[in-house]
Formats: sequence, structure tokens, C-alpha cells
Amino acid sequence: MIRVCFVCLGNICRSPTAEGVMHHLVREAGLADRVVIDSAGTGDWHLGEPPDRRTQAAARRRGLELDHLRARLFTADDFARFDLVLAMDASNVANLERMAPDGAARARIRLLRSFDPTAPAGAEVPDPYYGGPGGFEEVLDVCERACRGLLAHVRASLGA
Ligand code: 4NP
Repeated sequence: MIRVCFVCLGNICRSPTAEGVMHHLVREAGLADRVVIDSAGTGDWHLGEPPDRRTQAAARRRGLELDHLRARLFTADDFARFDLVLAMDASNVANLERMAPDGAARARIRLLRSFDPTAPAGAEVPDPYYGGPGGFEEVLDVCERACRGLLAHVRASLGA
């Protein structure tokens, strides 16, 4: 079993998108019973809310339903519940590193795009919240590429 948690700021745009994309890829790969997938935010403005309506609309155009998801806060306890804590950007990494109780927890934190072999080092998933509709499409494109790389890593870890 491998457990992954995607983390952004609000848990209403980027990390729910990554969760939906990864869920789809894992199911397609026949690994649904071997991978736990979740998402959370480091900010508390939208707790309990479904994903942003723009995020949901963009995902739905690609056949992904995100309406059942609800925003939650990432907590220090989550480091023990997940093997990989996948941050969308460098500020998420900094927030997570401040919360990490020890070195083992810190070692679980990665930038999601570090799993995309075509992305430059340090590449981020850009925050679409205050931008135009194209930003939500870009988040999907970027998450699809990164999650394909993540799936390859997961397969290797599982020996599947
Ligand atoms: P997310 O986007 O971190 O991708 O969910 C944001 C959502 C809400 C806010 C910022 C970013 N906000 O400032 O409320």
C-alpha cells in the first residue's frame, strides 16, 4: 500500500484537481486497492467547502467529478498517515516544513512537479485562484503530466 496526500493553500483548486487526476489514473491502472489518495490545504479559509466552481467545471470538461470533495486542513498528524506529501508550490513546502515534527516527516514532502521528468527543477503548480479561466486548464495539464510520473513512481514502489 502507498498513501499520498496532495497539498495546496486552500484545498479548493490545485490539490483537489491533483487528487481527481491521480484517482482516475490509479483506477485505470488497476491499482485502486493499493493506493490511498487524499488532499488538504495549509490555509483555513475554505474548510468544509467543495472545490471552487471553476475547478469543478474545468475538471468536468475532462470527465473528472470533484463535487464530493471537501476542503480540510493538513495537520502534523497527517505526516504519519501518508508516505508522500505532495506540495503544489514552494510556499506550500515551506508551510509543511514548519509543521513537520521530525526529519522523517520532512523527508515525505516533495513538490508534485518533481515527478514530471519534463519539468525543470523547482517547477510549481501555479495558483489559479485570482487569475482567468486559462489557469484552471493549466492546472489540469500540469497535474496530468506530474501524476503520470507519480504513477510510475508508485508502480515501482509497489513492484506492480
Ligand atoms: P488552491 O487555491 O490553494 O489551489 O486551493 C487557492 C484557493 C483559495 C485561496 C488561495 C488559493 N484563498 O486565498 O482563499
